[in-house]
Amino acid sequence: MKTDQIEQSENPAGNHVCPWQHVYLLDNFVRPLLHSPRKMFSPHVKPGMKALDIGCGRGFASLGLARLVGETGLVVSVDLQPEMLRMVAKRAEKAGLSQQIRPHQCEVNSIGLSEEFDFVLAFWMAHETPDPSGFLREVFTLLKPSGRFFLIEPKMHVSSSIFEEFVAEAQEYGYIRVENPSVRLSRAVVLAKPTSNAN
Ligand SMILES: C[S@@+](CC[C@H](N)C(=O)[O-])C[C@H]1O[C@@H](n2cnc3c(N)ncnc32)[C@H](O)[C@@H]1O
Repeated sequence: MKTDQIEQSENPAGNHVCPWQHVYLLDNFVRPLLHSPRKMFSPHVKPGMKALDIGCGRGFASLGLARLVGETGLVVSVDLQPEMLRMVAKRAEKAGLSQQIRPHQCEVNSIGLSEEFDFVLAFWMAHETPDPSGFLREVFTLLKPSGRFFLIEPKMHVSSSIFEEFVAEAQEYGYIRVENPSVRLSRAVVLAKPTSNAN
């Protein structure tokens, strides 16, 4: 399904997808007061790394990641909605970060990239995917060995038991649980792909 076919902000499984017209409610001047990309991601993201921000919205985290990877690194900002990607590109240009940020429009059930990343972020988006198991599998293929997957879900939409079931499924699949960071209003985990992939 292409982005321009999304109607009533639902994907084919009936999950709610955050409409681009509402993204300012999430990503505005208040957001950096709640979530500091530098504090959250600097333990995992270093200069020169390649990072992926899936479901980037209007790019609050992508901009923070771009500052961490620096001029020698790259952030691929992925979203279903082209309007989100246009906002990311505009913000990147304004912040002088265009060289470090590459927008990529995905399909609802396929990220559609065939490169590998040191760091993958899914911030408040996994619950919007119609096939969370398929999503976990695709992220696994996009990680370099020992690459990190930082998964953050909103407490308001994802219960503790659902979140833990999802993390358990990820571990069964082969991810290693690295830590449980504290992220405001959220449930969060950092997972890693093992150095030698047993799958
Ligand atoms: C609640 S917003 C969060 C945006 C951003 N990560 C943030 O923290 O501000 C969820 C985003 O995920 C995107 N999204 C939803 N389902 C997706 C999918 N299957 N693949 C890629 N992006 C998706 C939406 O278009 C939206 O931009």
